[in-house]
Amino acid sequence: MKTIVIGTGGREHAIAWALAKSPLVTEVVCIPGNGGTAVADKCRNIGISVAEIADVVAACKAEMTNAPPSSFIVIGPEDPLAQGLADRLADEGLSVVGAKRRAAELEASKDTAKRFMSRHGVACAKSATFSDVTDAIAEINACSGPVVVKADGLAAGKGVVVAPDAETAIRAVRDFMVDNTLGSAGRKVVIEEYLEGEEVSILAAVSVTPELAKAGKAAIVPFVTARDHKRLRDGAEGPNTGGMGAIAPASGISAEVYERFRSEILEPTLQGLIADELDYRGFIFFGLMVTKNGPRLLEYNVRLGDPETQAVLPLLDSDFAVLCRSIIDGTICETPLVWKDGFCCAPVAVSRGYPGSYPKGLPVTIDETSVGPDAAIFIAGAARNRREGPSRQGDDVVPGQLVTTGGRVLAASACGATVEEARTRAYRALEAVSFEGMFYRKDIGLPGAAVSGNLSAGN
Ligand code: AMP
Ligand code: GLY
Repeated sequence: MKTIVIGTGGREHAIAWALAKSPLVTEVVCIPGNGGTAVADKCRNIGISVAEIADVVAACKAEMTNAPPSSFIVIGPEDPLAQGLADRLADEGLSVVGAKRRAAELEASKDTAKRFMSRHGVACAKSATFSDVTDAIAEINACSGPVVVKADGLAAGKGVVVAPDAETAIRAVRDFMVDNTLGSAGRKVVIEEYLEGEEVSILAAVSVTPELAKAGKAAIVPFVTARDHKRLRDGAEGPNTGGMGAIAPASGISAEVYERFRSEILEPTLQGLIADELDYRGFIFFGLMVTKNGPRLLEYNVRLGDPETQAVLPLLDSDFAVLCRSIIDGTICETPLVWKDGFCCAPVAVSRGYPGSYPKGLPVTIDETSVGPDAAIFIAGAARNRREGPSRQGDDVVPGQLVTTGGRVLAASACGATVEEARTRAYRALEAVSFEGMFYRKDIGLPGAAVSGNLSAGN
């Protein structure tokens, strides 16, 4: 079968890598892909921006003409899902793994997500939504203790402020609602109770349609647990980032907590998707806080997490392409997932200056022989130089050279029987990588590395 992966990040490289491992997959077309997928086994990039939805649809249609009928498309990031790319591709008769627009609202609008959680009895933080700035401020002043201010819309990780005091919360509300720092994403805000505990990410496959629900085949199948490390520096210090690394499975999830996640979060979510008659065939990400009163849902993402995917997919022993196909066909209950024992650690290397401004175009070298057979490098923000022809004198552009294009440049992923073994292998692989100003946390996967004692440090 032929597969297409849409997106440009490390998550998409990991998805393409997992698909390419399947003996059933002959080709993985990446739109636009990155400098990793440009040279990966079975992979080929098509340089179309994900933002150009009509061009993406046209390219998918052209690629899928005459492809085997089992072929399919996987959409990685949230923006195209929120814009209805899955609907557009399905309208063309193509098989897609990705939430349709109405389901994607669960991530694209925090207010929609909170209403869904409350309507369907999903265990979550208490909250209220405001479209009037005076009302929002009155709510903050009425709360005792810290609150969390969330912009309603998609804000690329910049829409949440964990506020230790009312002053910080009010500033966030004014930034979002009056100064429009996030544009239309901040027109409404959700004010949420602050929850203390350890975060865990649970990624899952979803296959829900009204027809599958009628046949009793609608399902959500969770993957192994994972934990992102959002702060920039070791010991969970410094500003929040898009994710400095992940470990899977996450520590601290007892059988009792997991059972409560299933009964108080996963099952009501499934029943909610069914009751709302959604067509949702793709992935879902439960962002949880494990509090002393049990797990609480902080957010849904309607996609796989980044960098969690880079730590979760290497642990999958069964065929990822078969899983994707079963999501589309509504057979995930009959398609058992097999997970490797042990752990996977995926530290991320970032550019100097990230998450602030950072230089681009710096050459990245990877000593492939030192990466080790038990590790993989997943490229995120790096592309291949494309300049063709003989190099001019004084011209240091080497065709095919990997150069940085983003803040998060790559992740090294490695599995091991223990956390320590996975960490040793992953960090050994990272030592084979070099670029000017390369920075990474050294404590990904260590106990407590994702828990911050300082409420205000990230804001
Ligand atoms: P979200 O996009 O809703 O997951 O929020 C981003 C990050 O903000 C989460 O990963 C948490 O670290 C933090 N956060 C969100 N909601 C809360 C909450 N109610 N209590 C404490 N921290 C939160
Ligand atoms: N790692 C969190 C996310 O993908 O949003």
